[in-house]
Amino acid sequence: MRRGSIFQLAGIAVVAATITSLIAYFVPWLPRPAGKEADRIHFVYWFTTIICIAVFSVVAAVLTYSVLHFRARPDDDSDGPPIHGHTQLEIVWTAIPAVLVTAISIVSAIVLAQNSKAGANPLVVKVVAQQFAWQFTYPDGKTYGSLTLPKGRHVKLDITSKEGDVIHSFWVPEFSQKQDAVPGQHNFLVITPTRTGTFPVICTELCGLGHALMRSHATVLEAAAFDTWLKGGGQAAGGPPGLAVFQAQGCGGCHTFKPANATGNVGPDLDNLKADAAKANRGSVAQYINESIVDPGAYVVPGFPNAMPPVYKAQIPPDKLKQLVQYLEENAK
Ligand code: CUA
Repeated sequence: MRRGSIFQLAGIAVVAATITSLIAYFVPWLPRPAGKEADRIHFVYWFTTIICIAVFSVVAAVLTYSVLHFRARPDDDSDGPPIHGHTQLEIVWTAIPAVLVTAISIVSAIVLAQNSKAGANPLVVKVVAQQFAWQFTYPDGKTYGSLTLPKGRHVKLDITSKEGDVIHSFWVPEFSQKQDAVPGQHNFLVITPTRTGTFPVICTELCGLGHALMRSHATVLEAAAFDTWLKGGGQAAGGPPGLAVFQAQGCGGCHTFKPANATGNVGPDLDNLKADAAKANRGSVAQYINESIVDPGAYVVPGFPNAMPPVYKAQIPPDKLKQLVQYLEENAK
């Protein structure tokens, strides 16, 4: 082979590799990971992507070179030379992909094994899915509508779906893992949060009419703040008690409410509570709020689907419900 050809091939390969690397690097395909397991999964993703870029560059170089140099001239009607196989070449292009695919499977197997290790003392949170809400129960028996986790500790989620319900699937994009919630079956997921913040909890298995609305959120707190939260029965330090209930139940996942910095847009904007209550004409503002929480289907604000799950009556203790109603009434415009 001529030296010029090698340079030309290498040049095309470098150009192809540069373009694809820039696309891979600068397009934000994945959210910023928020867990150790997610970091490992992202490593596998990049390991595989780099291999793909290398293979693509070689193929693109050979293809482009061939098109440029070996294409038939417009007046050339002759047959090409009779080529039949090339054993060495075939061995090479079988062996290299075999090695690469084996490498990917070994790295994946190691990450999968590491990601299922919960350590000796994980925080176990029971997760129950149902049409169309999530419930999270902590070791002290308390249940919340959103997930709160301590940074830096192994958390083991024990995921199932309510008896007689359908299959759902738990997904937090920042944790990079999905796990099915199946009635009568317990599936586990280990999460070790690495940064604080609030991330969406999404149902990622088509489960019925309210599937797209089946959302909550996961909040990662510093270890000390988490202990305070857990001891306080879901109450973060400071702030009105009703706000803690609002946050613990994940109301902000579906509703906008400026005093709570909530920006959900599935259900009515709670900043307009008083106007909505007047239009609904179902008793005092407090009665209206109370009814909307414990019996959400009784009256639905026009223009919105009847999508609020009827789980809060059983899920929110009476004293907490009072705090929540009071908080909403006092802070709505
Ligand atoms: Cu539950 Cu989709």
